[in-house]
Amino acid sequence: MTPSEPPAATNANARPVPIITVQQHILQEQKRCPGASGEFSWLLSGITLATKMIQAKVRRAGLTDILGSLGDVNVQGEVQQKLDVYANDVLLHCLSVRESIGVLASEENERPLTVHYESPNAKYAVVFDPLDGSSNIDVNVSVGTTFAILRRPVDVELNEVSKWVLQPGTQQVAAGYVVYGSSTILVYSVGNGVHGFTLDPSVGAYVLSHENIRMPERGKYYSVNEAYRDDFPTAYNTYLDKLRTGQFGQAYASRYIGSMVSDFHRTLLKGGIFLYPPTKDNPTGKLRLLYEANPIAFIAEQAGGIATDGTQRILDKSPDSIHERTPLVVGSPSEMQDFQRVMQEHAS
Ligand code: AHG
Ligand code: MN
Ligand code: MN
Repeated sequence: MTPSEPPAATNANARPVPIITVQQHILQEQKRCPGASGEFSWLLSGITLATKMIQAKVRRAGLTDILGSLGDVNVQGEVQQKLDVYANDVLLHCLSVRESIGVLASEENERPLTVHYESPNAKYAVVFDPLDGSSNIDVNVSVGTTFAILRRPVDVELNEVSKWVLQPGTQQVAAGYVVYGSSTILVYSVGNGVHGFTLDPSVGAYVLSHENIRMPERGKYYSVNEAYRDDFPTAYNTYLDKLRTGQFGQAYASRYIGSMVSDFHRTLLKGGIFLYPPTKDNPTGKLRLLYEANPIAFIAEQAGGIATDGTQRILDKSPDSIHERTPLVVGSPSEMQDFQRVMQEHAS
């Protein structure tokens, strides 16, 4: 540059783009709900803190002695991974200091754990899958956490702890998940739309990155473990055949990660359908209603999608036990309507 040239334009007048953290967002949402107290945002901050700790451990998974199995078997008869145990401990620790929580139920604990259930201030139960897709940890593939928050029903006594959590998904006051993927993203809803917050590792805050997520009307992908095809009910195979052969007006590609939360996250953003059908070995499916299917169904519906167990809306199902399983079919309205039509044709 010669001295006679004018100085380059500067950005001196540009204002920084305001960032909204998840804490700010929760407080804003709370203001819109009269009667909601600060306890609720304090509770959610327990989840955000725990998932930041889990993601820090996931990011160091290959560096620490954390890979592989701990040798124990959880209540589902599956081998627990070390990170499963760590993630569970962290969530229990962060949530058990919140006085508004009476009961905690986790995939990794056979029975619900009582926290402050005897306290008159304890209004909520939290259910969660601390680490979803844990068989993917050793191979650097995305895993996640799913959670839902339920209010103690008015007619349930403080010590009837199972009844705090055995409620249909329609009763969830908030639900969400975190994907520990190429970045860490928290997606949640308090029943007023779905919002996504990407963790900025340089400041350690979840920052609003996906405001008011809407699931596309139709997508390009279907997601199912096709190795079990021979064991699916006929109606599922009819539907999948029609998808593959373009009978719904377009060609589909398939994507299957094997972490429900990651497969769903793609479906939420890109549209399409995710299925975990019943199989001969697992006639009620593999996924758990309370802490896997319900939070996913809540998010899907809030974003304009649909979630069923093949015949019934997931959120209407009344659970009988904490670790109850359910088939899960969730996705964009268009794919879900095609799916439901095929199911009805087979039923009649
Ligand atoms: P988890 O790691 O919490 O036990 O869940 C694993 C689940 C779910 O994430 C995924 O959709 C499914 O297992 C994959 O199962 P298949 O290997 O049978 O497809
Ligand atoms: Mn899981
Ligand atoms: Mn799990």
